[in-house]
Amino acid sequence: MALRIAAFLILLHGALSTALFAMSYPELIEKMRGFQESRILLTAVELDVFTAVGQGATAGAVAQKINTHERATEMLLNALVAIGALKKSDGVFHNTPETSTYLVAGSPDYARPSLMHIVNMFNSWATLTGSVRKGTAVVPPGVDRQEQEWTESFIAAMHSVAEGTAANLVRSVGTDGVRRLLDVGGGSGAYSIAFVKADPELRADLLDLASVVPLARKYTQEAGVADRISFKVGDLRTGELGKDYDLVLLSAICHMLSPEENRDLFRRSYSALAKGGRIVIRDFILEPDKTAPKRAALFAINMLVGTQAGSSYSEVEYRQWLTEAGFRDFRRPEPDGDLIVATR
Ligand SMILES: C[S@@+](CC[C@H](N)C(=O)[O-])C[C@H]1O[C@@H](n2cnc3c(N)ncnc32)[C@H](O)[C@@H]1O
Repeated sequence: MALRIAAFLILLHGALSTALFAMSYPELIEKMRGFQESRILLTAVELDVFTAVGQGATAGAVAQKINTHERATEMLLNALVAIGALKKSDGVFHNTPETSTYLVAGSPDYARPSLMHIVNMFNSWATLTGSVRKGTAVVPPGVDRQEQEWTESFIAAMHSVAEGTAANLVRSVGTDGVRRLLDVGGGSGAYSIAFVKADPELRADLLDLASVVPLARKYTQEAGVADRISFKVGDLRTGELGKDYDLVLLSAICHMLSPEENRDLFRRSYSALAKGGRIVIRDFILEPDKTAPKRAALFAINMLVGTQAGSSYSEVEYRQWLTEAGFRDFRRPEPDGDLIVATR
């Protein structure tokens, strides 16, 4: 009897959770239409509409400033009001407190340079059907196209994420015994900057592509620490990474690579570390069945449409690849966090 009640409760729980998470038909349709509001905002950012609205402007004045069609611009502005991104009174459009802060040039928090990366992502996401058919990106991965505008907005976007997380990563990992850091695919240098700032004895080597290293130099100069960071132009997919590092950092790198490329990178990272040195991976980490966390599952799609063979990976996969490469003491400093640390 007790067993039957338990089985019934398990079934009931299953049915309830399905009911809680399943979408109704109207909700499905609503989700399908979700791109409309997204596209309106992306076009507004792309055209820098919010800067043109400034302290308040008519559709005609906005169209003149951004060199667009007046009737179409008015339609876009009206739609922006409808979704709550602008206000309108007596035919004059006004920014909201949020758009004034983040989307009007001249504001200290102006985020358009990094948000342009989301605008660019829309183009690769539009090819998802083709990617699912083919199993890979159907437009060349952005980083391989070497387009300066793409690269600058990509690195600006990475920098703005890293500015919020780098200090926490350094706290979680610690700098005890760390004198030499290798920042593989270091991007803007945000993590190298945070490490060298945390410990005056620490030096960092940042490895990245020829198109990115000049941007990293600029960011590290602005942070006042460029003299403690060395820059290496190279390909993280091939070749030796160096020797005797105390820490090898792979922040937002593994998701660009295939499982085999990650295995290879972990082997080369192992060789680049001194005995007792640590590898630090910062990335989306999926649960074993790969359907959660939602952000990580969606990011896998971003890699499907944007890279040759990248994806989000699970803790189980990372543990296996690191163990195969010779690492020990696998740990996640925060159980649900985005960091993995292992030791040579
Ligand atoms: C997602 S970004 C991460 C940047 C930085 N680590 C961070 O977390 O902010 C990936 C970085 O890898 C670099 N990258 C991509 N392919 C590379 C390659 N084959 N060799 C070296 N760097 C590469 C990109 O230029 C970019 O800076």
